[in-house]
Amino acid sequence: MTESPLSPVQEIVQGLLQATARIAPKYFYDAAGSALFEDITRLPEYYPTRTERQIMAAHGADIARRLGPGASVIELGAGSCEKARELCQLIAPSHFVAVDISSEFLHDAVAQLRVALPGVEVRALAADLTTDFTLPQDLPRQRRLVFYPGSSIGNFDPAQALQLLARMRGLIEDDGALLIGVDLTKEVAVLEAAYDDAAGVTAAFNLNVLRHINRLIDSDFDLSQWRHCAFFNATDSRIEMHLQACVETVVRWPGGERGFAKGERIHTENSYKYRMEDFVQLLNQAGFAQTEVWSDDRSWFALFLARP
Ligand SMILES: C[S@@+](CC[C@H](N)C(=O)[O-])C[C@H]1O[C@@H](n2cnc3c(N)ncnc32)[C@H](O)[C@@H]1O
Repeated sequence: MTESPLSPVQEIVQGLLQATARIAPKYFYDAAGSALFEDITRLPEYYPTRTERQIMAAHGADIARRLGPGASVIELGAGSCEKARELCQLIAPSHFVAVDISSEFLHDAVAQLRVALPGVEVRALAADLTTDFTLPQDLPRQRRLVFYPGSSIGNFDPAQALQLLARMRGLIEDDGALLIGVDLTKEVAVLEAAYDDAAGVTAAFNLNVLRHINRLIDSDFDLSQWRHCAFFNATDSRIEMHLQACVETVVRWPGGERGFAKGERIHTENSYKYRMEDFVQLLNQAGFAQTEVWSDDRSWFALFLARP
């Protein structure tokens, strides 16, 4: 997990100076990146969002019956909070806390959510979920539900995912639960199209990370010199996104620089795809002994309800 005492500037520079340069996917999400992600969710090729929402529409009442009203919901990586709105309308929680790193976008989303959910105490918490963030003091400890949709867990390798799931276990008591959306293994062509759409929105999203990095570390990435590239790595069961240099170039920032050969890549995202049984095992290892799962007709995506 990218849990480190490093500042964002130190973390980014360290990543750029690795033999294979890398930028953590959390840096996709400035306000422009969050808006681009919303565009991605509406693309014909991007099945995860609509499939997860279909599962919720078909089985939400079932899930709500198991949880009961009056819980405290903590959503990690809440983004637009659209899935939260649907979930909260079903389970009628007392409190809802939206945690996201993209502060400006989060505050706008939460303002809209407050209007849609007048009976719920709604809070925004701008924080990096891979660090020890502090939940509001008055959030009840009893009957907490951690909600982590969108298969964002796939951005972490299995060891990091296990650490993160254990951290989620630590946010709840024995009467709490985790509701988590996970993308499943499927035909490679379907996976690759979802991360390299015909309209180029995912490419714009990937390239936008360089604009964000330029602001954060005062670097001089020229976006026109880079191209989006995404493919399935079958050995590790993950989609990889990279930015590839179209020309030989040097990127400079105060106190440092990195040369890139033509064709060299910066690794910007992994998105692991799981088999259901493997994810259940990961949940068990993280301290969630009881799991229930709902999926769609094609078994493309799964929603797990896990309890200690
Ligand atoms: C793939 S989007 C999912 C958004 C929404 N939950 C959904 O399911 O459509 C990932 C979200 O997690 C947030 N995010 C990414 N890395 C994060 C981190 N380290 N800490 C907190 N939020 C993060 C992003 O800002 C973005 O809103």
